[in-house]
Formats: sequence, structure tokens, C-alpha cells
Amino acid sequence: MQRWCRRRTHFPLLAVLFSAFIIASILYSERNIEEIHGKEQQVSIGHTSLLTSVPPKASSNNNPEIAAASLDRFTTCASTGKYHGRRTEPVYHKLEFSQRRETQQTCDLFSGKWVFDNTSHPLYNELDCPYMSDQLACRKHGRTDLGYQNWRWQPHDCNLKRWNATEMWEKLRGKRLMFVGDSLNRGQWISMVCLLQSVIPVDKRSMSPNAPLTIFRAEEYNATVEFYWAPLLVESNSDDPVNHRLNDRIIRPDSVLKHASQWEKADILIFNTYLWWRQGLVKLLWSNEKSGKCEELDSIGALELAMEAWADWVASKVNPMKRVFFVTMSPTHLWSQEWKPGTEGNCYQEKNPIDMEGYWGSGSDLPTMRIVDKVVGTLRSKVSVLNITQLSEYRKDGHPSIYRKFWETLSPQQLSNPASYSDCIHWCLPGVPDVWNELLFNSL
Ligand SMILES: *[C@@H]1O[C@H](CO)[C@@H](O)[C@H](O)[C@H]1NC(C)=O
Ligand SMILES: *[C@@H]1O[C@H](CO)[C@@H](O)[C@H](O)[C@H]1NC(C)=O
Ligand SMILES: *[C@@H]1O[C@H](CO)[C@@H](O)[C@H](O)[C@H]1NC(C)=O
Ligand SMILES: *[C@@H]1O[C@H](CO)[C@@H](O)[C@H](O)[C@H]1NC(C)=O
Repeated sequence: MQRWCRRRTHFPLLAVLFSAFIIASILYSERNIEEIHGKEQQVSIGHTSLLTSVPPKASSNNNPEIAAASLDRFTTCASTGKYHGRRTEPVYHKLEFSQRRETQQTCDLFSGKWVFDNTSHPLYNELDCPYMSDQLACRKHGRTDLGYQNWRWQPHDCNLKRWNATEMWEKLRGKRLMFVGDSLNRGQWISMVCLLQSVIPVDKRSMSPNAPLTIFRAEEYNATVEFYWAPLLVESNSDDPVNHRLNDRIIRPDSVLKHASQWEKADILIFNTYLWWRQGLVKLLWSNEKSGKCEELDSIGALELAMEAWADWVASKVNPMKRVFFVTMSPTHLWSQEWKPGTEGNCYQEKNPIDMEGYWGSGSDLPTMRIVDKVVGTLRSKVSVLNITQLSEYRKDGHPSIYRKFWETLSPQQLSNPASYSDCIHWCLPGVPDVWNELLFNSL
């Protein structure tokens, strides 16, 4: 008993250190943008060509003024000091909004339980989706227990409307639906494309490889389903969708404008941001900082600054013709002792959801949720929340673990201990993100 207590007290620090490391190693080793396009269009956008398409700015190291003009992966800080408490005074989102969106739903769609239902789910077949990512195609990569595809989300107080791709296309007719965020959001975008593509004839659809903005088009509906890479929402040195393996995270806390120019014409926007803030200190390079001096801030503080800059954009630009959604934290399952005390694994070999109502793991940071609550609260009717955290917490079985493509060569030590390289962050498809999209469908 005593030993258990001691382990419990030491656990959080270890968990934070290790999870930052694991998250970094899994998030940074992605290359699936090119892979998606390659498959559909038979054009290979090589890793190297993407590399060279962004020429290094030779001057950025010794001329911080140029670095300040545009943040990219070559940007460095001339010096780094402590954060002095500077904030961007919100211009718009302090204003009161008189007009409220009608809420048809009195039922909380996000409170419920998972029901095994192999007649309704999966909603599509992994092999039938030509846009599937090798990072998420778990069956293709050897997963044989396929129960993770068969769970349906059942809200406590109502039923979800059945997914209907034609009906969704009707909602999207003449519109641009855009997902903006990190690789978790990209997974949700791939899920949406897979959910929607089957009802569009092959010659009436296309995928345009234009990273960081990738566009799926359906001609008959004059509609697009797009993904835009912006893992920290604000401008950062990690905005290259392929090459973002960097030691320092530098953000421009007061600028979403570079990104907003890409997303502002979309009609329906789905934002997320979370895991990229879970990796230690963040360097702030303010827009009017001409000498390249950065300030260092903990990631929660930095996230709050970024969310405020984003919220100000939403408050000033979103009108009743646009819909904006924010997707809350996607949970990780890095520590099996959280759902099965006394074990030392992670999501590897987990085959069933957690059936403890209200289960909440250490991977879903409560202070982060409070910031989202607060910022989204100031935006009132302008943003709807897809509060997927609690429902996804139950799905320890839904991650790829070892059943995905890994880009790095795995060492014999890793191979002999599969849990050590398991991906317990992203989600297999078909799977959990399909349900996030069913909830989106129900909220449109
Ligand atoms: C669905 O699951 C039940 C119970 O596990 C099984 O008996 C049945 O064969 C399954 N049906 C399909 C279509 O997979
Ligand atoms: C799906 O939606 C379309 C268009 O709204 C409708 O015509 C069709 O009957 C629906 N299909 C099902 C199975 O409900
Ligand atoms: C297609 O949709 C765009 C908006 O995404 C709109 O500007 C354009 O007029 C539409 N074209 C047709 C033919 O409806
Ligand atoms: C999301 O749901 C959790 C409970 O599952 C709640 O504590 C939190 O405040 C909600 N967040 C938002 C932004 O609605």
C-alpha cells in the first residue's frame, strides 16, 4: 500500500517528462501529407523536393530583422529573456453580441456511452478509401482485432441522427469546409473525406496536393473539404507541414493573420490545437520586435495568448453566414496504470474501451480545458465546441499503437518491446474520429 502511494506521488512528474518526450517523438515523425496525395494522383511529392521548395534564408540567423518579418523553421531568437506579462489587448471579443445562435439541441451530445454495434459501424471500409493515411490504416498494418471499428456513440439523453453522406454533401453544397490545426485534426479531416468520398463518382472528385493547404473537391456539389496545417493556430516556426522537427518552439503570439488569410474564406471552420503545447517552454517573438529578442513562457501561458489572438480573429470576422467549431483536447493513452493500476504498459494491445463513466487520464490537461472554456465563453454564439475529450478518453483501444507505418527505422530493442514505440496519440481509421464527424454532422 505504502509503495503504491509513493509511486503515485512520483508519477505526475515522470509522466510529464516522459509524455512530453513521447508526444514529441511521435508528433514530429510524420510525413503523411505527401503520402496521401501520392496515392490518389500517382505523383510523388518527395520529402526532399518539399524541403528544397522552402529555401533557407541564409540571412535569418544574423539578421533578425528579416526573421521578424516572417516566421519559419529557420527563424532563431537573437536572445531570450523572461516573459514580461505583455498581452495583446483584445479588440473585438470583449464586445457583447446581441445575436445568439438558436440552439435546437437541448441534449448534451457529448455525454453518453460507447455501444458495440457492428451493424452500424464502421461507416466505411478502410480499404475503400483511397485517401486513407498509412499513419492511421491500422488493419493494413497488421492489426487483427478489429473491434475498435464497431463502436457507436450513444448520448444519454437522445439519439444521434444517422450519418448520411448525401445529406452532408447537401449541407456543404457551394461551400468550403476547412479543418485547421495539427495531425489530430488532419486525422479528422481524412475521416471526413473517407466518410464523404464514396458517393462521389471518381471522375467528379479530386485531391489537390498543395501543402500546407490540401483540398478535396466534389464537382457536383461545388464543395471542398480542406485541411490547413497550423498546429499552434498562431504563426510559428512549425508551420511547415513536413519539416517541423525543431528543438525550439517559437510563436508569434499576436499574429494569426498569416494563417487567417488561408482560412478566412471558408464557410465552415473546424479548429483544434493542443498537443503541440505539451512540450515544454515556448518562445514568444512579438510582431513588432525588431531586434529578434524572444521571451520565454510556459506552454499554458503561451496557449492562452494564442487562443486570445485566434478569438479576436473569430470575434471580428465571423458573421452569421459562417460556422466555427473548436475541437477540444484529443486524449492520449500513454500510461496503462491510469486505467489498470499495477500495470506498466500503454495503449498497446488494448482491445476494449474503458467502461468507467467519467474516466479522465493525465493526458487531458484540465488547465488547458479551462482556457478553452474561458476563451470560447467570450465568443458566445460565434463558436460551437466539439467537446470530444471525455468520449475519446474511454477509447484506449482506438490508437494505432504499432499498427501504422513508422517512418524511422525501428531498432531491435524497440522491436523487442512493442509498447516502447507504440503510437497512443493518433487514432485508427475507421474509428474514433468518424464519431467526432458524426457529432459535427449532428451539429450543423
Ligand atoms: C457482430 O458481432 C457479433 C457478436 O460479437 C457476432 O456474432 C457477429 O458475427 C458479428 N457480425 C458481423 C457482421 O461482424
Ligand atoms: C440520405 O439523405 C438523402 C438526402 O437528404 C435522402 O434522399 C436519403 O433518403 C437519405 N438516406 C437515408 C438512408 O436516410
Ligand atoms: C461555387 O462555390 C463558390 C464558393 O465556394 C462560389 O463562389 C461559386 O459561385 C460557386 N459556383 C457555382 C457554379 O455555384
Ligand atoms: C467539455 O466537457 C468537459 C466534461 O467532459 C467539461 O468539463 C468542459 O468544461 C467542457 N469544455 C468545453 C469547452 O465545453
